[in-house]
Amino acid sequence: MPAAENSRIALPVGSNLDRFIMTNQEDFPFASGELSQLIRDLAYAGKVVNREINMAGLSNITGAYGAENVQGEEQQNLDVAANIRFSRALKKGGEVAAVISEEEEDIIDLNNPRAKYIVAIDPLDGSSNIDVNVSIGTIFSIYRRLSPQGGPVQMEDVLQPGKNQVAAGYILYGSSTMFVYTTGNGVNGFTYEPTLGEYILSHPGMQMPETGKIYSINEGNYNSYPESVKKYVSLCKDRSYSARYIGSLVADFHRNMLKGGIYIYPSTSKSPNGKLRLMYECNCLAMIAEQAGGMATDGVQRVMDIKPETLHQRVPFFVGSTKMVEEASTI
Ligand code: AHG
Ligand code: MN
Ligand code: MN
Repeated sequence: MPAAENSRIALPVGSNLDRFIMTNQEDFPFASGELSQLIRDLAYAGKVVNREINMAGLSNITGAYGAENVQGEEQQNLDVAANIRFSRALKKGGEVAAVISEEEEDIIDLNNPRAKYIVAIDPLDGSSNIDVNVSIGTIFSIYRRLSPQGGPVQMEDVLQPGKNQVAAGYILYGSSTMFVYTTGNGVNGFTYEPTLGEYILSHPGMQMPETGKIYSINEGNYNSYPESVKKYVSLCKDRSYSARYIGSLVADFHRNMLKGGIYIYPSTSKSPNGKLRLMYECNCLAMIAEQAGGMATDGVQRVMDIKPETLHQRVPFFVGSTKMVEEASTI
C-alpha cells in the first residue's frame, strides 16, 4: 500500500503545523509527545533561519566565514549561523541527547540527561547558492538512541542505518519556504505563511510520480562519471528529458518529488565516494522519497540499508522516481 494511503491525515489543507502534529500524535501509541516537540523545535529554528536568509542581502550576513569545516569546505556565515540556531533550539528543547552536524567534526553531546533522540543535520544545504539568492535548505534525520538514557552518548547511538530513522524532513527556503517531514506514515508538506508566522498544510500525503522526464546531475563532472552513469545520462538525452540542476540538493529533490525525476550525485574522480553525506543528506531524503513512493540507492544498494562507519561518510546518491532510480541503478 502506498505510504500516503496508510497515513492518517485527519486535518484538511490549511491546518497549521502545530495542530497537525497534535492531531497525528496518536500515530505513535507509546509516544510521550517528545518527538512531536522535537519536530516543533526544528520547525521553529527554521523560522529564525528563514528570517536571516530573507534579510541576508541587507544584514551583512552573506559571504565566507573565514574557516573550513571538517570536510575542508569553506564555511559561509549563514552555514555557521544556521548551525548555531538549530543546535540551540535542540539543546533548549531537551528532547535530543546528541547532534551530528555537517559543520561540526564530532558528536555534540547536548547533556540532556533524559533525552532519547539523536539528530543528524545539514543546517544549511546549498551553501554556494546563499549569496546569489537561489533556493537553499535544511535537512534533518531523527533516531532513537540505543544506549540507556542518562549516560554519555555512544558512537553506536549515532552510526545507525537510515532504516532506523523515526522521522526525517527538510526545510526549503525557496520562492516560498516549506517544511516537509515524515514520521514513517507518509509525507506532508507545509508552506510558511510569514504574516501569520505559521507553517500551513499545503501538500498533504505527498506522492512522488513513479517516473518523470527530469534528470538532475552536475554534468560538468561528466568525464569522470562511472560508465553506467554516462550511459544513463545519454539515455536521458536520447529521450529528450529536461536537465535541471540547481546545486542545492533540497531544491533539486523537492522539484523532482513534485514533478517526477531523478537526482544523481555519482562518484567522480574528485569525490570517489560521491560528494553527499550519508548521515545528514542522503538518509533523510531517502526516507522521504520512500515514504512518498520513490526510491534511493547508492547505485547498487538501498541507501537506508547502508551501515554507516563514520560521521561524515559520503556515498554516491541516486534518488527520485522509482522507475528512473531502478533504471539508473541497473543499467
Ligand atoms: P552543502 O552546501 O550542505 O555543502 O551541500 C552542497 C551539496 C548539495 O546541496 C548539492 O546538490 C551539491 O553539493 C552540489 O555539488 P556540486 O557543486 O559539486 O554539483
Ligand atoms: Mn548539503
Ligand atoms: Mn550544508
